[in-house]
Amino acid sequence: MFHFGNRLQVQVFGQSHSPAMGVVMDNFPAGIHIDSEGLAAFMERRAPGRDAFSTRRREPDAVEFLSGVVENVTTGAPICAMIRNTDIRSQDYDKLADIPRPAHADLTAYFKYGNYRDHRGGGEFSGRLTAPLCVAGYLAMRLLEEKGIRVGAHIASVGEVFDDVYSLFIPEEELHAPGKKAFPVLNDEKGLAMQEVILQAKAEADSVGGSIECAVTGLPAGVGGSSFEGLEGRIALAAFGIPAVKGIEFGSGFSGCGKRGSENNDAIRTDGKKIYTETNHAGGILGGITNGMPVVFRIGIKPTPSIGKAQKSVSLSRMENTELTVQGRHDPCIVPRAVPVVEAIAALAVADCLL
Ligand SMILES: Cc1cc2nc3c(=O)[nH]c(=O)nc-3n(C[C@H](O)[C@H](O)[C@H](O)COP(=O)(O)O)c2cc1C
Repeated sequence: MFHFGNRLQVQVFGQSHSPAMGVVMDNFPAGIHIDSEGLAAFMERRAPGRDAFSTRRREPDAVEFLSGVVENVTTGAPICAMIRNTDIRSQDYDKLADIPRPAHADLTAYFKYGNYRDHRGGGEFSGRLTAPLCVAGYLAMRLLEEKGIRVGAHIASVGEVFDDVYSLFIPEEELHAPGKKAFPVLNDEKGLAMQEVILQAKAEADSVGGSIECAVTGLPAGVGGSSFEGLEGRIALAAFGIPAVKGIEFGSGFSGCGKRGSENNDAIRTDGKKIYTETNHAGGILGGITNGMPVVFRIGIKPTPSIGKAQKSVSLSRMENTELTVQGRHDPCIVPRAVPVVEAIAALAVADCLL
């Protein structure tokens, strides 16, 4: 099981081709209403097989609550939610038991677990395990909503094509607009250009990476803590629980590191009632503690490891160099489906800090 959280504890279990996978949540408050249609719509945003940009594996991703939720309301008892794996084609992975895919976890799973590893569909390392993470994240979002805190995300880039960025204070409409679209971007023209990049990669039996911008609005100032207790660290830890994530930056991030203090510092202002900053290069966090501005971060997602092009690998049984062409159903770009997953981990990290 994968564990996350100090107060709001989350454990994810299962593998890509196990009969089911799921999530257990401890310390989730009682009395939170879980809108089952809203949950289904959120799961649909991540689900595979819905368009030309994702794998053809078609899963309903129906969520069954085994405990902790009665008549759509949380009881305070530990929550266990399960999702059955139904569209399984394990034979697609037979070759991969001996020849690890470059950039996937096949090789490191072999180093750690030897021949006991479950290689089918990427086993526990599969992007499929982000489905139960989304269930937990959706619940956390309902909890945050009651406190006026909202989470949204959009595709920030695919290949070298970049979307617009969130505005300074991010009104709710702007925050949630991308999540209502089939291709979650702020600027649809840029979105079309990104889709072309993905389809081009797919036509060439290749894949492409990108990035996701996420924001949390309505967070009061003063949430988080210094050093290892900081909100940045908590979000980063949760973010690296998503397979294919290779980096994270807050606010101006790495580009801010090349600037002068006079350019990167956010001027502090007041309207007589509250304190705000004129820019948000800090991404809403200073010293690990929120400053009342939206928390804004971007996550880098690598190109999908499984590609149809021939790649160099080895036969583990023969200890010989060989070539691998990956068959089966894979996303040419992980980024669109990962957008709700990033919202989910942000909600979990923030809820864990607030409880
Ligand atoms: C939503 C989602 C879908 C994914 N789909 C695939 C896929 O179809 N094929 C693939 O090779 N990797 C896919 N991945 C990525 C791999 O699971 C990941 O690269 C692998 O486990 C190695 O982990 P790492 O990239 O974090 O080192 C997906 C990841 C996510 C988040």
